[in-house]
Amino acid sequence: MERKDAPPISGLKLVAVIVQTIGVIIIGALLAQVVLFLVSTWHRVTYERQRRTLALELLRCRVEAARTLKVGQEDEKRFWGGFRKFVVRQKVRECHDVYSFYLAPHDRKPLPRFQPGQHLVFKLHIPDTTKPVVRCYSLSDSPTQSDYYRITIKRELSPSDNPDVPAGLVSSYFHNHLQEGDILDVKAPSGKFFLDLTSAAPVAFVAGGVGITPLLSMLNSITEGAATTREVWLFYGVSNGTEHIMKDHLAQLNRQYHNVHVHVCYSQPSDADVIGEDYDHSGRVSVDLLRGLLPSNNYEFFLCGPPAMMDSLTKQLKVWGIPEDKIFFEAFGSATVKKTAAPPPRLADATQVEVFFSKTGKRCQWDQKHGSLLELAEGNAVQIDFGCRAGSCGTCLTAIKAGDVTYMTEPGVAPEAGSCFPCIAIPKGHVTLDA
Ligand SMILES: Cc1cc2nc3c(=O)[nH]c(=O)nc-3n(C[C@H](O)[C@H](O)[C@H](O)COP(=O)(O)OP(=O)(O)OC[C@H]3O[C@@H](n4cnc5c(N)ncnc54)[C@H](O)[C@@H]3O)c2cc1C
Ligand code: FES
Repeated sequence: MERKDAPPISGLKLVAVIVQTIGVIIIGALLAQVVLFLVSTWHRVTYERQRRTLALELLRCRVEAARTLKVGQEDEKRFWGGFRKFVVRQKVRECHDVYSFYLAPHDRKPLPRFQPGQHLVFKLHIPDTTKPVVRCYSLSDSPTQSDYYRITIKRELSPSDNPDVPAGLVSSYFHNHLQEGDILDVKAPSGKFFLDLTSAAPVAFVAGGVGITPLLSMLNSITEGAATTREVWLFYGVSNGTEHIMKDHLAQLNRQYHNVHVHVCYSQPSDADVIGEDYDHSGRVSVDLLRGLLPSNNYEFFLCGPPAMMDSLTKQLKVWGIPEDKIFFEAFGSATVKKTAAPPPRLADATQVEVFFSKTGKRCQWDQKHGSLLELAEGNAVQIDFGCRAGSCGTCLTAIKAGDVTYMTEPGVAPEAGSCFPCIAIPKGHVTLDA
């Protein structure tokens, strides 16, 4: 068989191949360098951009913190001790038996910002009463205005089962006698029931009747503030359309803000009330309703309404698994008659407790059925002045001469050291009060 040998590669060709290969390697290396350069430049630019964004964010936070501090310092200077004169600038009818009052400081100096949910304490000199009367009313608008405060008051009628009893003293005075231009004595905003505006936690508000007022302030603060994306639900229960406070305003917020969800319940709708138009649900606000509408139970709950409603809803919320530190509430109740909200906490040796009212020299036995120390005093003809009966106004402040007390609900303002608010206090053991 004939065998053919492959032609030999010439030296020149070999050199050319080697040169080509080296060229390819050099170009590859150069390309790799370029790619590396581009990648590192991209990384550097991205890093620089992120660094600048973070620096800007840090600067923004510092400016915001400085601004908040300045506002806080200015506000601190604007707060006042004791009572300050306010003029009723405007009186506006909201619905049947409910009026809003716009109050401007008589001295025309700017007002401090308050925390949405806080209240004002009023001292009124009502004709035919021997002493000034004290009551609390929640601020019902957002804290952004520095020239007026707004309160919204429902006139308390005589109890339906006892029409001989006079209608609410102070609410009737506000409705029937106070006119634009009248002057009122008002303490600076206070109270521990308020919304933390620095938090973004989703919130669910539950209001009964005129209990909408502090929640309205919270809702307005969220929609008027920078944090308009904070998720907020309002469940508002009233009897029917005649009691539906700020109906148009609430409907407007519901339409305007995707993060705001308003649900109104009428427990006794009238023939004129149309479901789907005037209100959303028949019946009372219940935790079952909340469970059906809220996507989860991961909310902070703020409740305000009659004591009985608060009591039942807080119990049901706990059954639903809401931790106690996520439930905030304020019960308005009535100032003149005792509240029925939470029963006093049980003390181990409650039957043995002696309360000595030293000024009047009265020794009394306290047990659970007496309720607060104010009620014990009243039951034994010991005079202690009161205003709110809710630990909010400070009127009943009484010195403790011996022993100690505990509170059925947290006071809205801190009592002076060595004193207590008998309207919400019960004895911890034997106690002597300066009354
Ligand atoms: C922190 C806080 C915030 C509040 N915010 C608001 C608010 O924003 N808006 C609002 O409208 N209210 C609010 N309240 C309630 C308000 O302070 C008053 O309690 C309410 O206006 C009733 O006061 P009054 O003087 O009109 O009624 P009161 O004279 O105290 O009478 C209350 C009720 O008891 C009845 N009554 C009177 N005497 C007797 C008697 N001997 N026996 C049986 N019944 C009797 C009256 O007919 C009336 O129905 C708030 C309360 C608190 C503690
Ligand atoms: S009556 Fe208001 S704090 Fe006691």
